[in-house]
Amino acid sequence: MEILIIGTGYVGLVTGACFAEMGYHVTCLDINEEKIKQLQAGIIPIFEPGLEEIVKRCSQSKRLTFTTSYKEAVPKATVCMLAVDTPMSETGECNLRSITAAASSIGEHLQNYTVIINKSTVPVGTAEFVRKTITKALEKREVSIPFDVVSNPEFLKEGSAVADFMRPDRVIVGCDNEKAAALMHDLYKPFMLSQERLYFMDIASAEMTKYAANAMLATRISFMNSLSLLCEKTGADITEVRRGIGSDKRIGLAFLWAGAGFGGSCFPKDLQALQSMIRSNDLDSSLIDAVIKINARQKELLFEKIQSYFEDHGGLRGKTIGILGLSFKPDTDDMREAASLVLITRLLQHGAHVRLFDPVAMPNAKKLIPESSQVTWCENEQEVAKGADALALVTEWKQFRLIDYKALLQEMQGNSFFDGRNQYDPEMMAKTGFDYISIGRAPAYHALYNEFKWIEKNVTADA
Ligand SMILES: NC(=O)c1ccc[n+]([C@@H]2O[C@H](COP(=O)([O-])OP(=O)(O)OC[C@H]3O[C@@H](n4cnc5c(N)ncnc54)[C@H](O)[C@@H]3O)[C@@H](O)[C@H]2O)c1
Repeated sequence: MEILIIGTGYVGLVTGACFAEMGYHVTCLDINEEKIKQLQAGIIPIFEPGLEEIVKRCSQSKRLTFTTSYKEAVPKATVCMLAVDTPMSETGECNLRSITAAASSIGEHLQNYTVIINKSTVPVGTAEFVRKTITKALEKREVSIPFDVVSNPEFLKEGSAVADFMRPDRVIVGCDNEKAAALMHDLYKPFMLSQERLYFMDIASAEMTKYAANAMLATRISFMNSLSLLCEKTGADITEVRRGIGSDKRIGLAFLWAGAGFGGSCFPKDLQALQSMIRSNDLDSSLIDAVIKINARQKELLFEKIQSYFEDHGGLRGKTIGILGLSFKPDTDDMREAASLVLITRLLQHGAHVRLFDPVAMPNAKKLIPESSQVTWCENEQEVAKGADALALVTEWKQFRLIDYKALLQEMQGNSFFDGRNQYDPEMMAKTGFDYISIGRAPAYHALYNEFKWIEKNVTADA
């Protein structure tokens, strides 16, 4: 079986590499010539744990090749997998520009029966749209070549994409005929040796499943973020509430962290696309509206906490805030819709200076954050802390878990720490010397901690 992956981004490259690792011959195609040149030269354009070794190994053994040529790649493919971008249009719905272009190019070069697999996240009805687009291109060539279109949405997570693809929780296949279904079964067989996790269904349900999964996960996050504000008002601790409800088997612990809001290339745009789909079907989108609104609000929260703190500390203008973590989540260099961008924009607008560090996302972040005298790029955590009035943790990279806080504090001018991911123990941070402010938990101030310890010691001694 010859596999052609069309679109060699986060999903396309991981998918191509993993199929090649299983022994298939895979061609990854992209219209971005620079990207393909890099890949042909062995340079991996994205950061994804474990990916580089697989790409290098499979490229060396010639099971994985890269091209920009539809003319060469389409005729020899048994399956063509669409993994192109499906961004949000200005009005919120899914933009099918890249899908349309890729489907037309397939139609222009198709020679034999081929199964077209849609891996991109697309609204219900897109498989039919792809079928029509290819048919139109074939009609233009005045040829009739059989093909099938299958929906096979992808559920990998950036940061653990290789592991997710190699050991998927499930593989969803939306298919309307037995020939294509048999081929899909064979295609995924190497991934199903220990357990069958292929779920066949109709095409519309497969397309909908992807949006439903992302919307469910995003809803859990917005639910906790919404509750976190109430926790702050009432004295409850959102991390305790998470433990309390997550231990219920019906609920579970995943995706229940309150924080600085979700970002990334999928949740924001997929929620907007789902909202558009609901509205264009004259249905009530208020649940999804609320999830989106709560998240937009939450992305402002860390800035508001910093601003409010500095109201009592001489104002924010001219202050220096060190930011730890820029990517939208750990273990990726993806900056799309990252919460850090909202925080940095607000800080710069209010006259603050920022010192920025991320273990891998700085090259991508530099493309989005304009050079300015207010912005300093740093090599590590210590450099971020130099002269800073405050630190803000935005992305919970593992290397930040055991930072030498005392050493950072010594580098700083101020002593406040804003934790956008609730990574640290408030008491420990206050004891270390920080004014520690997190999400959905009571702030822990260094001065108050000392006062409390003094009272505790003296009252106990008196007793
Ligand atoms: N990134 C994720 O974590 C993730 C997870 C699951 C599903 N998805 C979905 O998978 C799809 C791809 O996402 P991504 O993050 O890999 O996108 P991406 O932007 O990283 O990559 C898309 C690639 O497609 C290429 N492309 C665009 N038009 C093309 C064309 N006509 N022919 C060939 N190549 C073309 C682009 O140059 C780019 O390299 C999207 O629909 C996304 O929603 C993404």
